[in-house]
Amino acid sequence: MISGRTKICGLIGDPVEHSMSPAMHNSAFKDSGLYYIYLPFKVKKEQLERAILGIKALNIKGVNVTIPHKISVIPFLDELDPLAEKIGAVNTIINNNGVLKGYNTDAHGFLKAMSERGISPEGKRIVILGAGGASRAISFILADKGASLVILNRKLELDQAVELAASISQTFGGEIKALELNEPNLKQALENSDILVNTTSVGMSPNVDKTTVPSGLLKADLIVFDIVYNPLKTKLLAEAEAAGAGVISGLEMLVWQGALAFEMWTGLKASLETMRKAAIRVLENES
Ligand code: ATR
Repeated sequence: MISGRTKICGLIGDPVEHSMSPAMHNSAFKDSGLYYIYLPFKVKKEQLERAILGIKALNIKGVNVTIPHKISVIPFLDELDPLAEKIGAVNTIINNNGVLKGYNTDAHGFLKAMSERGISPEGKRIVILGAGGASRAISFILADKGASLVILNRKLELDQAVELAASISQTFGGEIKALELNEPNLKQALENSDILVNTTSVGMSPNVDKTTVPSGLLKADLIVFDIVYNPLKTKLLAEAEAAGAGVISGLEMLVWQGALAFEMWTGLKASLETMRKAAIRVLENES
């Protein structure tokens, strides 16, 4: 029930219509008996600064930040978590009595999804497909935790992967390579790797019959993490499973990034199960 005591959280982005976050957070708030509500705020680029000031003015407890504001929001914050600063992107803001602090729970959510499966990145050889925003958050946290990385990206955008690899090596040191995403490079990289992470949108609904990894390159001693969550089992994950590999769905990263934000705003642990069910409900209604 909404009352005078209700605390407000939300999502700032454009578009926000297809977000899973309102369903996940409102279900988790209800489940915990908290007087909290989570609302979508569609904010245009030119209104971002005013929207951020509005968080303070309206005493909003916290927000998630999504496309296109994850990078441009940073100058408007009072404090930044060190990892979010290194990544250069924020997806969660907490309002601590008028002081806005930015975090990147995408990166931490990815790590949580791995650790829940008993996988630690330390010393692991990891192949990352894609060099966009999601890749950046994931690559930085994996490098921070002592993994060695090979980042593979489409030919035209190879410079982006090279820049990402260079900025990671500069920040953390360690062995980070950037290569063109093609079959010979993929084959060679996968022969010596423990984990494969797809951060590209390839395989996402409606293009569910697409994958960038030929099935013959997948093997039983590999863990395959696809950050795509719609469909829950992408072609890549289905083929990895058929090859005997361990698989982790993008839904786990989605749910964990939400659970970590929930914890920051409320001080309580979120029910993963409730958030997962809410996300699946939205996915099923959309398809
Ligand atoms: P996000 O914030 O989700 O990471 P993004 O920053 O647009 O989104 O990055 C998307 C990534 O998926 C990029 O690495 C992109 O490759 P390009 O840099 O070459 O565009 C990758 N990607 C998207 N479609 C792809 C495709 N059909 N084949 C290979 N890579 C693709």
